Amino acid sequence: MQPSEEVKQRINIVDLVGETVQLRKAGANFRARCPFHDEKTPSFMVSPAKQIWHCFGCGLGGDIFEFVKQSEGVEFPEALQILASRAGIILKRPTTEYRAETDKKKTLYEINDLAAKYYQKVLSDSKGAEIARSYLNRRGFKPATIAKWQIGYAPDDFHFFENFVTTRGYQKTEAAAAGLLVRKDDGSFYDRFRGRIMFPLFDLHGRVVGFTARLLADAEGAAKYINSPETLIYQKSRLVYGLHLAKTGIRKADFVIVVEGNADVITCHEAGSENVVGSSGTALTQEQLELLKRFTENISFAFDVDEAGLAAGRRAVELALSMGFNVRVVSIPRELAKDPDELIRKDFSLWQERVAAARPFLDFYFHQIFANIDLSESSGKKQAVSQILPLLSLLPDPIDRTHYVRLLAEKLGVDEQLVLDLLNRAAVAKGRVAEKSAGTRRLVRKSYEEILEDRALGFLLKFSPDLPGEWEKFGVQDFGSLVNREIFAAVVAQRPQGLEDFFVANPRFRDAAQLLVFAVENELSALPEWNLEDAKPQFLGGFRHHLLKKKMRTLTTLIRQAETTGRMDEAKVLTVEFNNLSRDLAKYHAQ
Ligand code: CTP
Ligand code: MN
Repeated sequence: MQPSEEVKQRINIVDLVGETVQLRKAGANFRARCPFHDEKTPSFMVSPAKQIWHCFGCGLGGDIFEFVKQSEGVEFPEALQILASRAGIILKRPTTEYRAETDKKKTLYEINDLAAKYYQKVLSDSKGAEIARSYLNRRGFKPATIAKWQIGYAPDDFHFFENFVTTRGYQKTEAAAAGLLVRKDDGSFYDRFRGRIMFPLFDLHGRVVGFTARLLADAEGAAKYINSPETLIYQKSRLVYGLHLAKTGIRKADFVIVVEGNADVITCHEAGSENVVGSSGTALTQEQLELLKRFTENISFAFDVDEAGLAAGRRAVELALSMGFNVRVVSIPRELAKDPDELIRKDFSLWQERVAAARPFLDFYFHQIFANIDLSESSGKKQAVSQILPLLSLLPDPIDRTHYVRLLAEKLGVDEQLVLDLLNRAAVAKGRVAEKSAGTRRLVRKSYEEILEDRALGFLLKFSPDLPGEWEKFGVQDFGSLVNREIFAAVVAQRPQGLEDFFVANPRFRDAAQLLVFAVENELSALPEWNLEDAKPQFLGGFRHHLLKKKMRTLTTLIRQAETTGRMDEAKVLTVEFNNLSRDLAKYHAQ
């Protein structure tokens, strides 16, 4: 048996999905609000019989692997890993070297997890932690929040954790490799974190990989925060603080807000802004942005927007723009608050207002530059151009570029072509306009067209023996998705006596076809009553109507092209075709 098959047999989709969303029984299936898009009425279904899920709202669906791919933002191999380890299945025999490394990593995960639990316990129970408890209380962190983010307290002692970790059977060298102990030259050890509030750092899957530790009081000479060093399991440039808890919220809102401080992230989530992550005070790296890109292409930076803040955030903004993100800025006026945390503690609605008022970065930047530069002088114009052009040349989308070129030309009172020329020269000088980063998968809901197509094909599949004559009305090229095309072609070639008959001949289409049929069955089961004749226009007619309009749009373009290039005969033929289609369309509306 394939390992993926074995994993599928051991994991019940209802249990898996049930950990992320609240499932309610609905007949033979389960229903919930979709975790992948924002909705009020539940249109997300799970079928225990078929072991698949499907959302009628956004059109996503699939098996357990597809669910993990979507919810964790990973590709199949990683989804297989995650689910295999959950099912207790070991994939392939790893090499000795690989095994040694995974064993080492496993130990580091264990020690970090142990440390998080230990520091949490100290915070909740220890007498010496009273000052930490009152500090967190004073800052307004609720007990549920402290538990959710596994916040703890490291006692003010050089050897507490050192002694504790050995009682749990770990070597001090291992705890040092995990970043929790520091080894001195004489070979002895001491606790890295002492007398500090401990914020665990989590990876995408919620495993503790390190800590950031805050002083209780801002003291002279001591760093406010100290962090775990990089280890086998913690790479600073790859970790986005809070992403393990924010990923669902980001997907739902279809945008992410990046704040600087870890405290800001926690407060945002506590207040209900669940699409917020932290940059831990530094500019985001390309790897961090790629991680975010798995969940959305829209990013809002809530950074200090004064000169210094802008300079610090600028690199991340440029990177994000060049990677094709739509970048916005959430600006918080200084007189209002110094950071999101402070603003939300004042009034959550103030934060919500700032988020809603976030402006596209370039609009914001244009405004800033033009407010500070005197454009009546030609030197001012040159200065403005030299500051803005480099940013415009980063934009991978020509439509965005054109928009801002026009805006700039208008502001400067010069010809658009001139700005365009300058831009092209700048791009050539830079070596090329940044390419859209490859390998980052776009997670978007299915388009209306894709949903229509799926419904039609699912309907044809489910009722194929009862729908003589309907298949002929469609062609392979009507289907946009490759699998749908293949399924369609296979059915037309085979003319199966029903679904099972089809699966026997085409086992590789089983999953995809079942999903299509499942969607149709559910849609029908929601109706009080229905019959095949009445359902036909709903499932097939809608799609055909859409195809018709699409063809007419294409024809319109072709006709115009033919006319402008003087190919009048061709234009005439196309126009006849167009008129035929428009008659068909009229019939539709008459029905
Ligand atoms: N930071 C750090 N080392 C420092 C100072 C800051 O690693 N010496 C990082 C931390 O991740 C911190 C972030 O930069 O969360 C932002 O710093 P700051 O705004 O000073 O911290 P806050 O998270 O706002 O903390 P607090 O509100 O508790 O002062
Ligand atoms: Mn703060």
